[in-house]
Amino acid sequence: MKRYFIHTFGCQMNVNDTNRMGEALASVAYRPTPVVDNADLIILNTCSIREKAEDKMLSALGRYRQVKLQRGALIGVGGCVAQQEKQKILEKVPYVDFVFGPDNIGQLPEILGRVTNDRVRVVETAWVDSEAYVFPQADPQTSRGRCTEFVTVMKGCDNVCAFCVVPHTRGREVSRAFPEVLDEVARLTTVGVREVTLVGQNVNSYRGGSSFAQLLLRTAQVPGIERVRFTTSHPHDLSDELVEAFRVEPKLMPHFHLPVQSGSDEVLVRMKRDYTVSEYLERLARLRAARPDIAVTTDIIVGYPGETEADFQKTYALCEQVRYDGQFSFVYSPRPKTVAALKEDEWGPVAHEVKVERLERLNALQKRISVELMSRHVGGTVEVLVEGRSKTNQARRFGRAPHNRVVNFDGDAPVGALVTVQVDVASQSALLGRQVRITSLGSVVIPEGAMEAESCVVA
Ligand code: 5AD
Ligand code: SF4
Repeated sequence: MKRYFIHTFGCQMNVNDTNRMGEALASVAYRPTPVVDNADLIILNTCSIREKAEDKMLSALGRYRQVKLQRGALIGVGGCVAQQEKQKILEKVPYVDFVFGPDNIGQLPEILGRVTNDRVRVVETAWVDSEAYVFPQADPQTSRGRCTEFVTVMKGCDNVCAFCVVPHTRGREVSRAFPEVLDEVARLTTVGVREVTLVGQNVNSYRGGSSFAQLLLRTAQVPGIERVRFTTSHPHDLSDELVEAFRVEPKLMPHFHLPVQSGSDEVLVRMKRDYTVSEYLERLARLRAARPDIAVTTDIIVGYPGETEADFQKTYALCEQVRYDGQFSFVYSPRPKTVAALKEDEWGPVAHEVKVERLERLNALQKRISVELMSRHVGGTVEVLVEGRSKTNQARRFGRAPHNRVVNFDGDAPVGALVTVQVDVASQSALLGRQVRITSLGSVVIPEGAMEAESCVVA
């Protein structure tokens, strides 16, 4: 029996793609191994959203080269860097055997056949960016032992944010037909999945035969589904219908990731984001009016070409005003073929030290706000969907509260249970508490010999 090891970089789309790769490999008798040294096949599922992500891929490749030398393991590169660089990866890294894009996951068995039988190096990155694209169906067996799962609802992105490489690596938007999405959700419930996160680069412009809001409402009605989440949204097409869904559907969890990117209108124009700060705030206000307890998180880029200290101050002030529950902030990095990369010299590059210093100021602000917001839970209770056990303490479990906060707690509830947890301690990223009671058990069965998921965030 041959074993594979997949190293996943990047977003939930990639996590999902990794699962589909596993299923394609299972069809040719490959089994997963958690230990790379035992692998006969190593795949890097790459991300190219920022420079750092690409650097990480290159250094991981360097490490895996040893396994190739020792065991003759095959090495494949998939994901966004593969789609972008294609043949160039083979030229740059002589020990890579094959390169395949996100649309070519189903071809893995055939690619492997060519690599092993014909002893050739293969590049397969043809993509289909029309309704003719067939989304790979998830096999529910892959989700055995889990209570929460991602479900792909669309691929690609039709926006042209000036900094972003995604339209170049994932192509045009294609939505998955809603009956197919609902069918996948229903099949996931047969192994005990109770929470689904609908994923796409830009879910607000979903067009799979229903609006995205309708899709969420229908998903919430699938028997066995207790919680529905989604990611990720672009503020400019946040519809009234979606806001209304938050008012009427309690299974739609009160968390919204709404990337703002910058608090300066001038920067937003150069980013081609298609909204002003006041329009963004107005949409956020509607959301908060519909669901007053909603947790809001965001993405911010600092040091975008031409960003002045005054622009940055506006971003800082926006964060103080909105009081985000969490924030993913990044220093700008130029990406190939993007407008921002081409115009960087004209708009004025920001020095690296300035970028880093701005990022630090923003992170310090967010830390203070997150701790304040998290501390409000201390002394109260939250409902947690149990995902696994703590790495360091056998009597401790972890899961997520409705607002998507990680909760570690002392208790014995099994994976898939919904439990009430009394919160004792809060940190920036997690809550710590005690199990009060199990509300409902769920039907997750941990496969024999498999490990429960382990928490890595500590309060
Ligand atoms: N540089 C820095 N951050 C970026 N992001 C996307 N492209 C870049 C880039 N070139 C960030 C955005 C986006 C998140 C997924 O990654 O904030 O929302
Ligand atoms: Fe990139 Fe903008 Fe599309 Fe998000 S909406 S994936 S940032 S182009």
